[in-house]
Amino acid sequence: MIKKISVQDLRIGMFIHDLNAGWMDHVFFRSRFMLRKEEDLQKIQTSGIRELYIDTVKGMDLPEAPTQTEVQEQLMQGMLRGAQRPARAQTTHREELAYAKAVRAEADHVIRGVLADARLGKQAQVEQVEPVVAEITDSILRNPGTLVSLLRLREGDNYTFTHCVSVATLLVTFGHHLGMDRSQLMELGVGGMLHDLGKMRVPDHILNKPGKLTNEEFEIMKQHVDLGMQLLRSTPGITPAMAQIAGEHHERFGGAGYPDGLHGFQISASGRMAAIVDVYDAITSNRIYHRGMEPSVALQKIFEWSEHHFDPELAQQFIQAVGIYPVGSLVRLESQRLAVVVDLGEGSLLNPVVRVVYDARRRKPLEPQDLDLSRAEHGGDHIIGHELPGDWNIDPFSFLTLDIGL
Ligand SMILES: [Fe+2]
Repeated sequence: MIKKISVQDLRIGMFIHDLNAGWMDHVFFRSRFMLRKEEDLQKIQTSGIRELYIDTVKGMDLPEAPTQTEVQEQLMQGMLRGAQRPARAQTTHREELAYAKAVRAEADHVIRGVLADARLGKQAQVEQVEPVVAEITDSILRNPGTLVSLLRLREGDNYTFTHCVSVATLLVTFGHHLGMDRSQLMELGVGGMLHDLGKMRVPDHILNKPGKLTNEEFEIMKQHVDLGMQLLRSTPGITPAMAQIAGEHHERFGGAGYPDGLHGFQISASGRMAAIVDVYDAITSNRIYHRGMEPSVALQKIFEWSEHHFDPELAQQFIQAVGIYPVGSLVRLESQRLAVVVDLGEGSLLNPVVRVVYDARRRKPLEPQDLDLSRAEHGGDHIIGHELPGDWNIDPFSFLTLDIGL
């Protein structure tokens, strides 16, 4: 059985199933192994890891520890408790989609240019990214769910470029949910676009290494924060919030981050927001060496880690901002039909607009049909939980762009 334990309860003879360390940028151990050496135990205990998962079939048990299933149920309940209304949308997802796709492509193009210039030692300019950040912001102001639903639409495979645009998109979405005004959202967007500028000063073989970094390589990679700050300090038009995003996105609320090991509210609000967003995008992204998590699974992880590593209040708000059932996620309805969330709608975040695509009982595809779960006329059907698309061989994204009426 998989159980969750606190790091103080970890003993030699336990089998580590998951170090639960996705909030870190670099994990020093392979993920599953029998803990045999005292030095490994000490290394884990001093790494900043606070809780982890063990497999009690393969190693020693801790009888009182909760099982993974119990933990997940509790987390889901905690997430649902905070459920709010989605931010009001001026356009439907369908109306916003074509525009959002164009903005995404434009932003990818712009950041590619800015980062290529930085690689050549050319100064980045706030003006280079501002116009496309304005377009990102306006799309999110019209429909907060659409650009976010396109995060997985990544052209090419260069994580460094797409990550910058995704972080900008998520930060603006987050800020909009928190009620910030357009100029504040623009600052978040520009800060997000430029937050990893310093990576352009990291040697290419480390930045684009297809596997895990060694400890020495990771030490060099960590320097991207200070290197980025050096570049931004001399950039005209950089505001404090923009600089905090670049300078503090690897700090962690519990103090286990870098470069300064800041703690709690020593980290600015922009920095605390950027930390959440940066990790969320990292763990949901497909990389050469690992598949990204489903958004729903990743949000649950953010919630879990917020107990020790993120600002818990902001983490709860981030989950609300992206949606407990984000656009593009696969859910199971009480009627045992599977559906893709296509719009956050106007009701509670628990009752979005979904596109029914599959009959789970008969195991056969259905003619896609949209249901607004916040309205009564659908016969009271509602979401009972998330499903993993891989388990059903369904690609939710392919249904998002289908043009069918409600
Ligand atoms: Fe970074």
